[in-house]
Amino acid sequence: MKILIGTANPGKLREYRELLADIPATFVSTADAGLASLEVDESADTFTGNALIKARAYAQASGLLTLADDSGLAVDALDGAPGVHSARYGGNGLDDRGRRQRLLAALADVPEGQRTARFVCVIALVDPSGEHNETLTEGTVEGRIAFEDREGPVGFGYDAVFIPEGYEESFAQLPGSVKHEMSHRGRAARQMVPVLQRIVGAD
Ligand code: IMP
Repeated sequence: MKILIGTANPGKLREYRELLADIPATFVSTADAGLASLEVDESADTFTGNALIKARAYAQASGLLTLADDSGLAVDALDGAPGVHSARYGGNGLDDRGRRQRLLAALADVPEGQRTARFVCVIALVDPSGEHNETLTEGTVEGRIAFEDREGPVGFGYDAVFIPEGYEESFAQLPGSVKHEMSHRGRAARQMVPVLQRIVGAD
C-alpha cells in the first residue's frame, strides 16, 4: 500500500520516513506522486485547520491515503509567534537560517528565563476514498530559544535555535533518535502508528 507524505519540506519527509519505518507500507513523497508543483494555500489560523487543508488537497490530487502535518514554533515572549506562520516568518525572501537570525534578533533583549517556547505538530490523515475517517493527532515539546544558532549534523527549520527541556544541546545537535523520542512530530506520529497499522493491515 502507498501512503503519501504531503509535504514539500525535505526535513519533514526524512523525519516521517524514520518515524514510520515499522509500518509495512511504501511512503511516497509529493515529488514521487508528481505533485511537487502543487501549491496549497494554508489559509487557516490553526495548526489543525492547516493540517486538514494540506492532507485533503494532497489526498484529492493523488488519490492516495495521505498524511500531512502543520507545525511550528510558539515563543512565549512573542505571544506565541511565529506559530502557524513559522514557515513564512520574516517574509518570503528568507531561508531557514535567515528566519532563525530574525528570531534571535527579535529575542535579543529577552533574558534566559523568559525564552520559553514549544514546537507544535498536528498530523492529519485523509483517505480520499472516504472509507477511513479523517484522523488528527497532536504533539508538543517544551523548550527554550538559544542565544545563538547552534547548528549540528542534522536538523532543519528552527532546530538549531531550539533547546528542549532538560538538555543543553539544540535539536540540531542531538541525534535524530533523541529528537524523535521527545519531539512534537515524534509524539504526534506515535499516536498515528496504530491507526496506520489498522488501515494497512486491513488492506
Ligand atoms: P509548515 O510546513 O507550514 O507546517 O511549516 C512548518 C514551519 O515550522 C517550518 O518553518 C519549519 O521549518 C518549522 N518546523 C516545524 N517542525 C520543525 C522541526 O521539527 N524542527 C525545526 N523547525 C520545524
